[in-house]
Amino acid sequence: MTKLDIRKYGDSILRKKSKEVSTVNDDVKRFAQDMLETMYAAKGLGLAAPQVGVSSRICVIDIDPDKKSPIIMINPKVISGEGKVVDQEGCLSLPELFAEVKRFSNIVAQYTDISGKNKKVEARDLLARAIQHEIDHLDAKIFIDYLPDWKRKNMEKEIKRRKKKGEW
Ligand code: CO
Repeated sequence: MTKLDIRKYGDSILRKKSKEVSTVNDDVKRFAQDMLETMYAAKGLGLAAPQVGVSSRICVIDIDPDKKSPIIMINPKVISGEGKVVDQEGCLSLPELFAEVKRFSNIVAQYTDISGKNKKVEARDLLARAIQHEIDHLDAKIFIDYLPDWKRKNMEKEIKRRKKKGEW
């Protein structure tokens, strides 16, 4: 397995809509394993392909504190959502920056798994949040897009400051 480079906010690939995966071949399988390794090494709960420079609709998630429940989602889609809940959110592409984001508390999602099978999952709370966050990446959306202008501008200022210091 290979640890991949995580792209940070400001990288143009994070603003590109990802393409559907047509077949789950060995390359896709290997890539998904690399994504998992990269996510675990960075201590993240989720990672989407564009965050490692690949514009494909693939994401990995593991909200288990013991890191024993990896989920690999290919071409994932939220098919229904209900309830709204606000909670803290972060992103490996925006290290150490957190903000409150409103999301569906309960969702039903569908995706193709690593063996090519179609799956449907009912998720709530943190898992539901993680799935919505990662699918957003595939649609070129980033969690700070949901923030009020003043809050987002503050974050962008902080990012600029870190860039200047070579910390970004
Ligand atoms: Co993210």
